[in-house]
Amino acid sequence: MPPKKKSAPSTKAIDTLLDESRKFKPAASFTRQANASNALYKEGAANPVKFWEKMAKELVWKKNWTKGLIWNPPDAKWFVGGKLNITESCLDRHIKEGKRNKAALIWEGEPGDQRTFTYFDLYRQVNKFANVLKSLGVEKGDRVAIYLPMIPELMISMLACARIGAIHSVVFGGFSPDSLRDRINDAEAKLLITADGGWRRGQIVPLKHDADVAIADCPSIEHVVVVKRGDFLLRFKEGRDHWYHRLMQEADAYCEPTVMDSEDPLFILYTSGTTGKPKGIMHTCGGYLTGVYATTKYVFDLKEDDVFWCTADCGWITGHSYITYGPMANGATQVMYEGSPNWPDEDRFWQIVEDYGVSVFYTAPTAIRSFMQWGREWPDKHDLSSLRLLGTVGEPINPEAWIWYHEVIGQKKCPIVDTWWQTETGHIMITPLPGATTTKPGSATRPFPGIEAAILDENGKPVKKGGGYLAITKPWPGMLRGIWGDRQRMIDTYWSKWDKTYFPGDGAKIDKDKYFWILGRVDDVINISGHRLSTMEVESALVEHAQVTEAAVVGVSHDIKGEGLVAFVTAARGTATDDKLVARLRDFVARKIGAIAKPEKIIFTGDLPKTRSGKIMRRLLRDIAAGKIIGDTTTLADPDILNKIKARYEED
Ligand code: WT7
Repeated sequence: MPPKKKSAPSTKAIDTLLDESRKFKPAASFTRQANASNALYKEGAANPVKFWEKMAKELVWKKNWTKGLIWNPPDAKWFVGGKLNITESCLDRHIKEGKRNKAALIWEGEPGDQRTFTYFDLYRQVNKFANVLKSLGVEKGDRVAIYLPMIPELMISMLACARIGAIHSVVFGGFSPDSLRDRINDAEAKLLITADGGWRRGQIVPLKHDADVAIADCPSIEHVVVVKRGDFLLRFKEGRDHWYHRLMQEADAYCEPTVMDSEDPLFILYTSGTTGKPKGIMHTCGGYLTGVYATTKYVFDLKEDDVFWCTADCGWITGHSYITYGPMANGATQVMYEGSPNWPDEDRFWQIVEDYGVSVFYTAPTAIRSFMQWGREWPDKHDLSSLRLLGTVGEPINPEAWIWYHEVIGQKKCPIVDTWWQTETGHIMITPLPGATTTKPGSATRPFPGIEAAILDENGKPVKKGGGYLAITKPWPGMLRGIWGDRQRMIDTYWSKWDKTYFPGDGAKIDKDKYFWILGRVDDVINISGHRLSTMEVESALVEHAQVTEAAVVGVSHDIKGEGLVAFVTAARGTATDDKLVARLRDFVARKIGAIAKPEKIIFTGDLPKTRSGKIMRRLLRDIAAGKIIGDTTTLADPDILNKIKARYEED
């Protein structure tokens, strides 16, 4: 990564956004057929709780709720007293209401294999696997860890857990055995679902092998179910390990859905926080499903014959909300793809769009920047005329990438929905409504109906001009209900900055049309390729290495990934600080956390800049990494250290 002449991410965002004045009005033809109109904003604003109750009524309930919302900050209860099993909204009702033979899932593996599931197929698979889980002793409230590639069994596993009220914890298949182990142990999962392997860029990802390493230290795991993806080598432990396909052969095709309270947990998903240890974000049944159902319907404007494709992995919240739950609750047809976008060539995504006639496409800015770099000849080779709506999520999209997406992929006829939300919010929070909202490249525009957001300063006062902190000022149905096993951390992280107001940790500004412009994270969490990673976690991984004494990790702007990591490392005395050590440390971090966390650059320093009380001043290191003039150094114990580090950095 070229370190110099690059400004820090936040400054860059502000600079580009400031001169962005282009506006894109929805085309009349889109507006005429759109699910959402401006009236929806009015409805949401008039009475948010009533608005969400109306959305919830479109789902299948076993028993109606008695109260829409009980709000005891920071605890919200939505649809109080309501009973449901969310799989009935995602599957059973479609079988009964004429979608039995509709394609629910069109899946393509990276090597090119294909499988299509109708709603009836999927319904049967989910029911069977729910019975399998039961037969292995999984009960309501038990935690099930899922470590799978992007194959249909991933969605089936999630829905099967939901069918019997087990709480799933999906761990992204790109995470290391250590990361998997920590997540399993934190949630005390009873059962693990994995595969013999998966495909990524023509290579086998040895999931079962990695899982074996992880669960050697996971006393809570009683059973492991292994999906056979290929002919990959693996070891089987008798009594503990079971083949998925064998168990499925014997399973009953119907499983009575477990009746759940609206507020019963549906899943845990781990996300990075500032103190190192990942946080198990908890979501519940009624509110979460209502939020993802309504946002899918109105933001993605899904119609009976749309083909929806969200390119995320189910290991992230985007895959939970806009692959497994939102589209299924809407009875949509969707595409799922296992592999990487440039395998075997840079047009794999466009081939898929053409082959299946994808009409609504949802991806991340980091992917769009890669497409731009690969060149428009790749999409230009394909018929993309089926596309009618485009979306983005994960990080701020730079206006240049927005325009490219609009012109090259959308062929100037597709509205773009830039959707802001988080693992914790469960569903989309700030977004245009296609057909209703005029868009501006780089702005996520306005809160979704029923959502209230503001830009506040440190004291909770609304910011009238310029930037401030993004805040969500009213409870919403998909909001996190807690952090698994750590209530205090939830309060400290999200509910302590202001009174009764949620703090997402993002900076933002608001313009004269009341449009929101998200400026990125304000804490020590950085956003790599649309996913949050704690710099502290990478530091802890580095110092675990025998040849590292101390490490400080900061984020710098990166052309494709949005942000990348630079590590300043003090090596153990007597260690040769050469390229070999750099390579060893990068591999070490990849093994400890996952390839996503590999530092772009490692700089060895004799010492780190510290305050007199011994706190590492990451702010100054960030300045160095960004090639900026170094900020205020008056609190430094030894100001000379900085010049030494700066010299080392520039040498590199
Ligand atoms: C963080 C949440 C939500 C799914 C993917 C990431 C950033 C997300 C946008 C957007 C600007 C965005 C924020 C947020 N972010 N979407 N449209 N514009 N920034 O989920 O890992 O929980 O990360 O991603 O910084 O806080 P996550």
